Amino acid sequence: MARVLVTRQLPPGGLDPLQGHELLQRDGDQPLSHQELVEAAAGVEAIVCLLTDRIDQEVLSAGPNLKAVGNVAVGYDNVDVAAAERAGVAVCNTPGVLDETTADVAFGLILAASRRFSEAERDLRAGRWHGWGINQYLGHDVHGATLGLVGYGRIGRAVGRRGEGFGMRVLHHTRRPTGEPGHVAGLDELLAEADVVSLHVPLSEDTRHLIGRRELALMKPTAVLVNTARGPVVDSDALAEALENDRIFAAGLDVYEDEPQVPPRLLAAPRTVLLPHVGSGSLATRTAMARMAADCVRAILAGERPPNLVTRSG
Ligand code: GLV
Repeated sequence: MARVLVTRQLPPGGLDPLQGHELLQRDGDQPLSHQELVEAAAGVEAIVCLLTDRIDQEVLSAGPNLKAVGNVAVGYDNVDVAAAERAGVAVCNTPGVLDETTADVAFGLILAASRRFSEAERDLRAGRWHGWGINQYLGHDVHGATLGLVGYGRIGRAVGRRGEGFGMRVLHHTRRPTGEPGHVAGLDELLAEADVVSLHVPLSEDTRHLIGRRELALMKPTAVLVNTARGPVVDSDALAEALENDRIFAAGLDVYEDEPQVPPRLLAAPRTVLLPHVGSGSLATRTAMARMAADCVRAILAGERPPNLVTRSG
């Protein structure tokens, strides 16, 4: 029996794979402060954590017995993987189980931003709608439009399938050719061609501010940008400026550069749909994510090699 720190209450059943271990679990939904996390990590053999927990060198080397980290997220930019490898801690994430759920949110943002749902609803709720008008809230059709996927992993592909179902022409850009129909070798080319650009790359030093002022200037003035990946992939100042100056038509965002801060300029920008990082947020999917992370931790503690290792060894 090992001691496992679980940094939050998780959906019911999410920790079942860890039955038999001693769980030190935080009550409620508030993250531990970094100092609390370091102190709690010092006495455990494993951690089940969330993307809002910064698992850095200090946490990873807090105690002598830490062996495993199960990050309940597919993105793991909150974990210092190199420091984990140095400390001999195996780290796992939760790929595969959240693709369709996250793609639903990306597609919801594509529809909502293209057709201006948020602004229309805000007006209606505020009593600013005074009847049907032929010129009201005119957006752009999704059917017949070109969808440009930046990144073509599981989630990007799931968004592409939705696009095809909605009658879109689907292109994708990855640095390495996929050999599949719709591959566009250059990001600039994809940005210039797409009516809707949807981002599906992990956050890394290569993708930080992948979409900045220069890239936004390449997009069509009628284009929509959707980000369900990670906030820092987009330079939010440049995006706010592009929206304010009608350089692009609209944006749908689920993620932000410095969550939970949402830049006031984006809050005020026109034709912007803003969600509070709910991409994987269905009960079934969040439960599956928790179980997957817990099962990986169980496997590492049992000396097995888990399926979703992001460190080189487990
Ligand atoms: C959510 O953002 C995740 O990475 O799972």
